[in-house]
Amino acid sequence: MRKKVIAGNWKMNMLPDAAIRFIDELIPLVKNTENEVVLCVPYTDLFYSLLAAQNTNIKIGAQNMHWEENGAYTGEVSGRMLKSIGVEYVIIGHSERRQYFAETDETVNKKIKSAFKYGLKPIVCVGETLAQREEGKAIEIVTNQIEKALEGLTENQAENTIIAYEPIWAIGTGKTATKEDANEMTKAIREKISYLYGQMVANRVIIQYGGSVKSSNAKELFSMSDIDGGLVGGASLDATEFAKIVNYEN
Ligand code: PGA
Repeated sequence: MRKKVIAGNWKMNMLPDAAIRFIDELIPLVKNTENEVVLCVPYTDLFYSLLAAQNTNIKIGAQNMHWEENGAYTGEVSGRMLKSIGVEYVIIGHSERRQYFAETDETVNKKIKSAFKYGLKPIVCVGETLAQREEGKAIEIVTNQIEKALEGLTENQAENTIIAYEPIWAIGTGKTATKEDANEMTKAIREKISYLYGQMVANRVIIQYGGSVKSSNAKELFSMSDIDGGLVGGASLDATEFAKIVNYEN
């Protein structure tokens, strides 16, 4: 059985005092879950969040990283830097970064390799636009993103890459993919990984769904055969709501 991984993506929200209050509130609400609980927070919240979540089952992640270890890259933060303060996860290739910050399949691939080099667990985002879905190209586009993202990874690395399938038209729009459509895509992703790395690896890879996940739809989505939890944006900004998503089975 694959573990469910429920990750919050705060995006560019939450000052440190709010982050600490959020985590203090979340700790008792999720302490009994068997699901993996991750909060991907802005860089400025990382250290405070790591301290607030110390000795709990809440893991802290970043939302981006550079692939180089150090150097003349003004404004960037490396995987080694994240690891040095105790960060465990990092989102790579979120559609907002692909759209607004020129992230490409090639930089995504470099960042994943660098994340593994420094012992971080990458959460890699893929997803199609509405136009691509309407043209019937969604599966082709997304499985192609997967192939490019994983290029050159070892079996072990591929197995430990968390994939977040996030249809771009469902992010922050209130429109969620139907559970059937979301499951169809996560299955297609798993088949692609099976083709690249074999069935054993494919069976073990965590594939999340993301895009307007909330407490009212988490259960139906996360109960599908190939959906192993979610990457949650807007609904992760409220501790009670996020806890309900983590505890979706109850
Ligand atoms: P949303 O964002 O839950 O607000 O749609 C998801 C994401 O961008 O990861």
